This record gives sequence, C-alpha cells and structure tokens, in this order.
Amino acid sequence: MNFKDQVAIITGAGSENGIGRETARQLSKGGATVVLTDIDDTHLDDAVKEMKNLGGHAISMKVDVSNQEQAANCVKETVNQFGKVDILVNNAGISRPSSILDITEKEWDLVFNVNMKGVFFLTQAVLPYMKEKNYGRILNLSSVSGKRGGGIFGGSHYSAAKAGVTGFSKAVAREFGPYGITCNTVAPGLIGGTEITGDQLTDEKKKQIIAGIPLGRVGEVKDVAHSITFLVSEPAGYITGEELDINGGSHID
Ligand SMILES: NC(=O)c1ccc[n+]([C@@H]2O[C@H](COP(=O)([O-])OP(=O)(O)OC[C@H]3O[C@@H](n4cnc5c(N)ncnc54)[C@H](O)[C@@H]3O)[C@@H](O)[C@H]2O)c1
Repeated sequence: MNFKDQVAIITGAGSENGIGRETARQLSKGGATVVLTDIDDTHLDDAVKEMKNLGGHAISMKVDVSNQEQAANCVKETVNQFGKVDILVNNAGISRPSSILDITEKEWDLVFNVNMKGVFFLTQAVLPYMKEKNYGRILNLSSVSGKRGGGIFGGSHYSAAKAGVTGFSKAVAREFGPYGITCNTVAPGLIGGTEITGDQLTDEKKKQIIAGIPLGRVGEVKDVAHSITFLVSEPAGYITGEELDINGGSHID
C-alpha cells in the first residue's frame, strides 16, 4: 500500500514482536513517516533504524499514553516536525489476568488508563489537526475480550476497557466523519509471540486454545497489521465506525 507523504503516529510500537511494531514495518514499506512511541524506550532506537532500512522515515518519542500532557506533546511535536498527522494507531495496551474478586481499584485504574483513557488522550490531541486538513485515519486496538466478556489472558477490566474503546471509536466516527476522518477498531483474538501474554502462553494452553479456533492456529502479528494497514490507507476512506474481527473464527458474530 502506498503511504508516501503520509505521517503516522503509532503508540506502543517499542515491543519488538508486537502488533504496533509490525504495523510500523508495513507503513514504512509503503513510504510513510512513522512516529514510533512507547512508554518503554529501550527498543525505540533500533525500531527507528529498522523503519529507515525498510524505506520509511521514522523518529521515536517516549510517551506514556495515560499521561495527557505527554500525549498532547507527542502530537504537537509531530506536527511541528512534519506539518500534519494523517494516521493515528492507538496500539498501546496492557492486560492483567486477574479474577474480578482480586482486582484492586489501583489495578482497575491502571488497565483503564492505558487501554481506554490513552486512546481518548491521543485521539483528542490529533483531531483538531486532522480536522484542519479534512483528512484522518484513526485505528484503535480493541480485542475479542471486549466482545465475548473475557479473554484468555485479560481480566474483566481489560474486557470492559476494550469494549469501551469500540464504543468510543464509533462515537469518533460519527462526530468527525463530516471532516474526512475515519475511525475504526480491530478486535484480535489470541495473537502469539507478543509480550502482552507474558509467560502464560504455555504449549499446553496453546493446544487448548487452538482446539477452539476453526482456522486451527493462533494469530500472528502480521494478520493484525495487514488489516490495520488497509484500514488506515487512503482507499479505505468509506469504512468508518467498523470493528473488524481478526480471530481465526474463534468468535463469530
Ligand atoms: N496479543 C494479543 O493476543 C492481543 C489480542 C487482542 C488485542 N491485543 C491488543 O493489541 C495491542 C498490542 O498488543 P501486543 O500484543 O502487541 O502487546 P505488546 O505487549 O507486545 O505491546 C504493547 C506495547 O504497549 C506498550 N505500553 C504499555 N503501556 C503503555 C503506556 N502507558 N504508554 C505507552 N505504551 C505503553 C508496551 O511497552 C508495549 O511495547 C494492545 O492494545 C492489546 O491489548 C493484543
């Protein structure tokens, strides 16, 4: 896909094997300028080099999405450097596999602040700039957990936050469609190899999970990144308020 002259911000793009990093690779191959952000900047320098080698232009910023000031500064700095933001991929996320009975208020707030409030902060910060250009593509990471009331590794707070992301995205689509801005979500099922499952995805657990997936395998980051790349492309401009399932058929609605 062609992303030449397009500027994209991706949150949570530090994780080497994560969905955000793979999305950055695909946008870079299309020639995008990518702003790679993460709360953990350990791998961001390497990420920038990787994107440049793929033909894109990239910079990195350390950003905690749950901090409104940092979110706003990230967008301001991007616009100062590149004049605009065409694409926002709200990918940063955390999960905690806790039972409802064990969730503390602190843990509830942490999960909501990153997964839900972070999406709001970044979206609110980019919208005025996108509106000015009458163009924008916003893509938010939801999850199958938000649809079926519980994931495999996320708790009820994670499910609730991801369901909230979908509701919020639909509202953005409705309010900002008149300004040429689309807002969609993807709802992945279990995606193997990323950091979010920690060490909990044992071989035994994997076998059990695969038994419930009609397509017979867990997802890969590429499966998700391909769909994201399409939804944030210029030709996807008539799709908005959509939630795309990427789960191998493990949840069909
Ligand atoms: N992997 C899956 O099975 C799966 C399934 C459904 C949805 N998702 C969603 O996909 C997204 C990406 O997940 P992943 O699997 O690539 O996980 P990952 O853990 O590999 O990547 C998530 C990234 O978010 C960053 N992050 C965490 N807190 C942050 C904060 N406060 N500010 C900025 N960055 C922060 C982490 O440092 C990490 O780099 C998440 O929103 C996740 O909920 C993942």
